[in-house]
Amino acid sequence: MKGVILAGGLGTRLYPLTHVTNKHLLPVFNKPMIFYPIDTLVSAGITDILIVTSGPHVGHFLGVLKNGKELGVKHLEYAYQEKPDGGIADALSLAEDFADGHSIAVILGDNTTDADISTSADSFKSGAMIFLKKVPDPHRFGVAYLDKNNSKKIAKIVEKPKDGLSDLAITGLYMFDNNVFDFTRKCDPGWAGRGELEITQVVDFYLKEGQLAWEELRGFWSDAGTFDSLYKAGSYWAKKHSSSKK
Ligand code: G1P
Repeated sequence: MKGVILAGGLGTRLYPLTHVTNKHLLPVFNKPMIFYPIDTLVSAGITDILIVTSGPHVGHFLGVLKNGKELGVKHLEYAYQEKPDGGIADALSLAEDFADGHSIAVILGDNTTDADISTSADSFKSGAMIFLKKVPDPHRFGVAYLDKNNSKKIAKIVEKPKDGLSDLAITGLYMFDNNVFDFTRKCDPGWAGRGELEITQVVDFYLKEGQLAWEELRGFWSDAGTFDSLYKAGSYWAKKHSSSKK
């Protein structure tokens, strides 16, 4: 399995910080944000990684990551998303040549977690896998609604729901077979009303084909794309760091 980290966008929710550099290079405690998803992949044995990025500071990635060797990456590639506001599924579509027929583990570059995804990566065969996590603020995320008669099944998924009827956030970690690129081509920028191609619509295509599985993400998880979540993620990793030294 190969790995793809989506690290584009303008990071407007973090202005003025993202006038300085790309969101994914901002510090989360003692490391640039993108080190965390890289570590999640490398710890799962996924060392062939593509970073898709965009926006005014793309050159900064090379200076920070170089060839990725210091982080345990065996092969690092970069792709450039021409439209920084094209959306996550638009960024993902650029991974088609890199994937080269393989399945891919995809992580959003502003998601940090200490969950171990190696077992899921090793057993993944086909379709799509998403990782769900209970959250107090589901309206900020893509959300899954479980089937009332069979909680193993997802009944529907919605991006940024307002109804508060499910608190199961779709975290920014995904596993896809190679059909994902047929689905990114079918995405519609109006799907969630944000004018962007949504990764949640890609997941919805798998759901509609009966090819979507889910697991609960075990461990800490937070995005870091807003001031509050950036602070929350930094605090968690700072505490973990100091308790590991005791
Ligand atoms: C994106 C996805 C959303 C997911 C979230 C996880 O949201 O669209 O489904 O729950 O990442 O971080 P965005 O950061 O674009 O608002």
